[in-house]
Amino acid sequence: MTPRTSHESASHWDASHWNASHWIVGPGALGRLVGLRLAATTAVTLVGRRPLPARQTLITPEGGTLTRGLATARLDALPEAAPAVVHLTTKAYAAETAYASLAPRLGPDTLLVLWQNGFACQPRLSARHAGPVLCATTTEGAYVQGDDRVTHAGHGHTFLGALDGRHGEPAAALASRHAAAGLPAEAVDDIRVRLWHKLAVNAAINPLVARFRIRNGQLRDRPFRPMVEAVIVEIAAIMAAERIPSPPEGWADLVWRVIAGTARNRASMLQDVLAGRPTEREAILGPLLTAARRHGIATPRLAELDAALTDARV
Ligand code: PAF
Repeated sequence: MTPRTSHESASHWDASHWNASHWIVGPGALGRLVGLRLAATTAVTLVGRRPLPARQTLITPEGGTLTRGLATARLDALPEAAPAVVHLTTKAYAAETAYASLAPRLGPDTLLVLWQNGFACQPRLSARHAGPVLCATTTEGAYVQGDDRVTHAGHGHTFLGALDGRHGEPAAALASRHAAAGLPAEAVDDIRVRLWHKLAVNAAINPLVARFRIRNGQLRDRPFRPMVEAVIVEIAAIMAAERIPSPPEGWADLVWRVIAGTARNRASMLQDVLAGRPTEREAILGPLLTAARRHGIATPRLAELDAALTDARV
C-alpha cells in the first residue's frame, strides 16, 4: 500500500485543523455565500483584489437576513499565517492568476478547493498545488447586491472530490462542515464526471443565449430549438469519445430539463456579455474543442459559437 502523506493521516482532518482559517479568494456571490455560512463555525477571511466591507449581509432564500463581521484581506497584502483551507471562488479565467498570488503563503497541507465552472484550471491547479486539491460543483444560486450584500436566491447541493478520487477524508470532513453551516454537500469519488456533465449543460445553453442575447426559455422556440439540438449532438459525440458516461436520461433530456427549470434566467455568460466582462468561453468551450480535435470529431456549431464569442462584437 502507498504510504500516506501527512495531509492524508487519519487524525489530520479533525476539529483543531478546521479551526484554522478558511480563506475565500474571489468573494463574488458564491464566495460570500460560502464565507458567510461557514463563518458560523469557522474563522473566515474574504480575500479580494480590492478591499471589501468587513460587515457583510446575506439575504436568505426565505427572505431573512444574516449579518456578520468577517476578516478581509487584499490579494496583494495577505496575512502571514498559512490558511487551513483556500476556497478559490474566482471566475474560471481568473483562477490561475489568483493562485499564483496566493502560492507563497500556502502551506504544504493547505487544502485547496476549486469552485470554477468548466474543466480548464482544475487539472492544472491539481497538478501545481503541493497539498490536497478538491473540486466543487454546486447548484446553489446567489447573486451580488452590492459590496456588502449578497442574495442566496435558491437552495442547492454541492459535490466535493479530487480529480483522481483521492482525499476522501478531507472531502467528507469539508462536506459535513458545509452541511452543518446550511449548505448541503457530499463527498464523491467521480467529481471529474460531474464537472464534465455541468460543462456539457453549460456549453449547450450559455454560448447560444449569449450570442443571441435571449433568456434560457427562448431556446425552446424557433429558430433556436434546432440550434440547441445540433449543439447537443456535437457535445454527445465528444463525451462518448472522452468516455464520460451520459446522464441516465440522456444528454438531450438533461439539457431540455435544465432549460425548462431556468427558463426565466439570463444565464451567466449572457450576463457577462451584457456587462462587457470576459466570459468563461475558454473554460467551457475550450476543453470540448480540444477533445474534439484530439478525437477527429467535426464540431462546426461549437466552433462557430466559440468564434462568435471571441469576437468583441457579440
Ligand atoms: O451559467 C448559468 O447561468 C447556468 O449554469 C445555467 C445552467 C446555464 C442556467 O442559467
